[in-house]
Amino acid sequence: MRISWVLFFAFTLSETVVSARVLPAVAEHWKIELRATALNYRGRPDPGIKVFFRQDGPQCGRCHVARGVGGDIGPSLMGFARKYDRAEAIRSVLEPSERLANGYTSVVVARRTGGVMTGLVRHENDTMLEIVDVEGKVHEILKSDIAQRQVSEASIMPDGLVDQLSDEDFRNLIEFLMSLDGPE
Ligand code: HEC
Repeated sequence: MRISWVLFFAFTLSETVVSARVLPAVAEHWKIELRATALNYRGRPDPGIKVFFRQDGPQCGRCHVARGVGGDIGPSLMGFARKYDRAEAIRSVLEPSERLANGYTSVVVARRTGGVMTGLVRHENDTMLEIVDVEGKVHEILKSDIAQRQVSEASIMPDGLVDQLSDEDFRNLIEFLMSLDGPE
């Protein structure tokens, strides 16, 4: 069976779609504004920690470790600011798919038994593939059940996570990332 990859991606994106995506002009507008505010003005790292971890926020801490706490779906951000500057911190958050962190390329898998799945490969052997999805759920897929498999160019880090943040919250979040310059 031949499957259209356009459909795969439409399906994948529909999972992470945010209101701003529906209207690209609006999406561009908030990105330009957030980028400008965080490039031109300093924030405060301490309130930024709350933005990073709070439940009703973008939930960065669900996927990333920072200051020794957090989930492990994405890379640890400990020492992030030793490797990257402010512009790259901003870009990482606003456009996750522009540069994928080493080892975090995701795959899109279409199953013979139906359904398409996107995630990070956690384990693989001759007969099965284990992937972790954006929710952190682990899926074991038998290789004999895989109709098609493709490396995805998109990050599993959702786009538009910060579109509901105020300028101040965003500046504080970026300042928090820039404070991650030590072992924690
Ligand atoms: C669903 C999980 C998930 C959430 C939620 C998430 N991220 Fe990510 N993030 C990832 C993954 C996976 C990567 C690696 C792929 C990539 O580079 O996009 C990543 C990459 C990054 C990077 C680049 C790291 C490096 O070493 O290059 C930064 C910085 C980052 N995320 C910050 C954030 C911030 C800040 C938030 C909250 C606004 C956030 N992430 C929310 C999964 C997530």
